[in-house]
Amino acid sequence: MNSKRSIEDVIEFVQVKRTNKEVHDFLKTSCIPKSEWSKYAFIRHSESYSRNLIHDEPGKFCFILICWKPGHYNAIHDHNGSDCYFKVLQGRVREKQFQKQSQKSDKDYDEEEVCYLESLNLSHQMSNPDSETTAVTLHLYIPPFDKCHIYDPNGQQIEEVVLRYASELGKPLYEDCQQLL
Ligand SMILES: [Fe+2]
Repeated sequence: MNSKRSIEDVIEFVQVKRTNKEVHDFLKTSCIPKSEWSKYAFIRHSESYSRNLIHDEPGKFCFILICWKPGHYNAIHDHNGSDCYFKVLQGRVREKQFQKQSQKSDKDYDEEEVCYLESLNLSHQMSNPDSETTAVTLHLYIPPFDKCHIYDPNGQQIEEVVLRYASELGKPLYEDCQQLL
């Protein structure tokens, strides 16, 4: 049975030291209604997907809301050594994991599902396979990171990129940001 939880509830849970299983189970059993996250949900016209900062505790963790346009995807990337959890808040996402130059897995996550990615030696790619619905995912990164590495499908590193946000703490940073209604 899932419990209705606010964004603040989720942040407070992570502020206390927890095991990976505790965090995973908490996110899995948390139902976060759209009224809680819609104020953070911005998507830029010029981007396939948009990252929105919800909460940042430097050196500890951050929560980010990502909006994925229908049929769009990101580059194969790593998390610069950080652990990652994501929970699907709307729609469905596909996640492909790569390890040592070969694709390791390919899995779809539906609304309410949670994924935990331990970042060691791992790169991945996410997409929104739906042709109509914008997907929305809540990401928890431990610790936060502001740069990551992009790879080609053969596992060769292409470049280091600095990560940007479309909005921070509910405030859009670009003129082409549109709030998801
Ligand atoms: Fe990622």
